[in-house]
Amino acid sequence: MRLPSMGPHATVSIMAIYLDNAATSFPKPEGVYKAVDEALREGAGSPGRGGHRGGISAARIVLEAREALAHLFGISDSSRLVFTHSATESLNLALLGLLKPGDHVITTAMEHNSMARPLHLASLQGVEVTWVQAGPDGFVPPRDIFAAIRPNTGLIAVTHCSNVTGTIQDVAAIGAAAQKAGIPLLVDAAQSAGSIPIDVSSMHIDMLAAPGHKGLMGPPGTGFLYIAEGIELKPLLVGGTGTSSASLYQPETLPERFESGTQNTPAIAGLLAGVEFVGSIGVDTIARHEAALVGQLIAGLLPIAGLKVYGPDAGRPRGSVVSFTMDGMDPSKVGFLLDNDHEIAVRTGLHCAPNAHKSIGTYPAGTIRVSPGWFNTESEIAAFVEAIERIARRKR
Ligand SMILES: Cc1ncc(COP(=O)(O)O)c(C=O)c1O
Repeated sequence: MRLPSMGPHATVSIMAIYLDNAATSFPKPEGVYKAVDEALREGAGSPGRGGHRGGISAARIVLEAREALAHLFGISDSSRLVFTHSATESLNLALLGLLKPGDHVITTAMEHNSMARPLHLASLQGVEVTWVQAGPDGFVPPRDIFAAIRPNTGLIAVTHCSNVTGTIQDVAAIGAAAQKAGIPLLVDAAQSAGSIPIDVSSMHIDMLAAPGHKGLMGPPGTGFLYIAEGIELKPLLVGGTGTSSASLYQPETLPERFESGTQNTPAIAGLLAGVEFVGSIGVDTIARHEAALVGQLIAGLLPIAGLKVYGPDAGRPRGSVVSFTMDGMDPSKVGFLLDNDHEIAVRTGLHCAPNAHKSIGTYPAGTIRVSPGWFNTESEIAAFVEAIERIARRKR
């Protein structure tokens, strides 16, 4: 692992090789640790509250982070980007804040539970949901989404990059057709934000939900939702916003309409540093590095007898996620051996996306999921492949 230079307070990972960046990225860039520490020690104030220096400095950090994120995703008005504490919260706000009984939503079989569960909840409250099936490679043909459009379709909701197979959906094509039909598009960018270029205007994305702690390299407990002009959401949480304090009504203006309560300024300061790091390298460069590691990984795994790799064929778009199974071995056993004998961290099981496994034929045991990040190296991938070869030999 290419560890960023360790500061005096940095802890050394207990994992020799961390390949679980789809869960949360690790390590973080050095600037992220520093920014969190500094904000906790020096930014004594609640953003937008109180007329003292601490509050003003906290508000500045939050504004800078909002603007840095808006810039990265081609969002022209940063006030339409609201901070949440996770992609899950962003998706809940987008779905439950928008949908009403009688509305119809089109989504896919590849969704993470943070999209699927709020949609299921909405369906129990009278929202109709169409789950468009994916092929065995995890790809959902855009034409199947268009074919599901009805007069009452009020939303198309898709994940950009599958957290099970790494399959990248054709969001730009879906967005163009959705726009033509006058239907808003919600994109779950949990596995793509910071790792795959995203531009909300050219991809016609009306709501973009993302975590701050994966490809954007920020701390856990960060996330955001972009809400395009014209999309009216009901806040899921109301309370103090530091504005319009004389009124008992929640402000109508963004971002405060959706940001009740004291914000986690230290984590947002860390997210700002993460976004600046991503911007300094460039999302294209990150994508190329991760694609090279994924290519090396798949090439190393494919010749192993009894091992099956899932997801798109070579040459098709893929994020930095590779799932595989090994004949006669439960994925959890492989994960245990990797952790215990080789000090390698991966994730095993269903990865909170059961229907994605039904699509690719790996339900209910799931898969072994490997997700390289910016700080991983070729030699770590080689060590991982060697560990899997050993595990495969030991099985015989
Ligand atoms: C595709 C996808 N969507 C949503 C989420 C939820 O993200 P968060 O943990 O930030 O809520 C994840 C997390 O793994 C994910 O992979």
